[in-house]
Amino acid sequence: MAQKNGKHIHHTKAYIGVWIALLVFTAITVEVSYHDYGTWNIAVAMLVATIKGSLVCLYFMHLKYDNKLSQVAFISAFVFLGIFVSLTASDVLFRPIPPALAKVKEIRGPAGAEVAKMKELSAATPELVNHGRELFQTNCVTCHGVTGQGNGPASTALNPKPRNFTSAEGWKNGRAPSQIFKTVSEGISGSAMASFSTLPIEDRWALVHYVHSLTPNPPPDTPATLAAIGIQEGGAAPSKPAAEAVELPISLAIDRMVEEGKK
Ligand code: HEC
Repeated sequence: MAQKNGKHIHHTKAYIGVWIALLVFTAITVEVSYHDYGTWNIAVAMLVATIKGSLVCLYFMHLKYDNKLSQVAFISAFVFLGIFVSLTASDVLFRPIPPALAKVKEIRGPAGAEVAKMKELSAATPELVNHGRELFQTNCVTCHGVTGQGNGPASTALNPKPRNFTSAEGWKNGRAPSQIFKTVSEGISGSAMASFSTLPIEDRWALVHYVHSLTPNPPPDTPATLAAIGIQEGGAAPSKPAAEAVELPISLAIDRMVEEGKK
């Protein structure tokens, strides 16, 4: 091979040059990984990989000093690979988002939309209160009782006792809607009050407004109580608790898609 013309031994400089070029391209790969160029991510990665691969083949594997036929064979292999990859990419990358995925995106929404939705749901409507009343009968009465006085059938065995919603006494998180939302979403550790984060946020807010309607002189939310669950005036980015609270597990999102499909 290359020994025929004996050239390769004189190429120490070229080797060092190639080595440096490979390091530079590696640095580029690392640098690029910090940015999101969307569809171009793949293109850049492929380009860098191809250039690095070619350099290694040409210099370290001596293809550059090999006979023309091997060069043609090798380079055409690369060209064909490029054609296959770009044809596949031109199809895959530009396909519309599958309806199922689009649905999941719509349910979860971008962070801004989540905040907007939380904000909207944090205001009570008669529909939400009614929906909350129904959900309360199936999810909460065993402990909190049909009238929310904390005297459900399971309450006798519990310590601490379930909260009596018709009294202002003993509330740990507080009685403002966003504070009740925190309780319903996260539960109260060290008690039988579990997290209901698997319920969709619409349902959780419905429960919140119903429970809120049961409490004496229901205290309203303040900018501070809203901010504590990530709802800021002016729709600023959600703080961590809200992002967590509105996160839908994929399994639940799929259930909802199936449900909506049945309607
Ligand atoms: C398995 C029993 C049980 C069920 C079911 C239950 N809770 Fe509770 N809940 C409790 C107990 C016990 C407490 C008191 C916790 C404490 O004092 O630490 C409580 C407390 C609360 C509080 C008061 C939080 C505070 O600030 O002190 C709210 C609000 C509440 N529950 C809402 C609900 C809603 C809404 C449901 C139905 C979706 C529900 N709970 C279902 C047991 C239950």
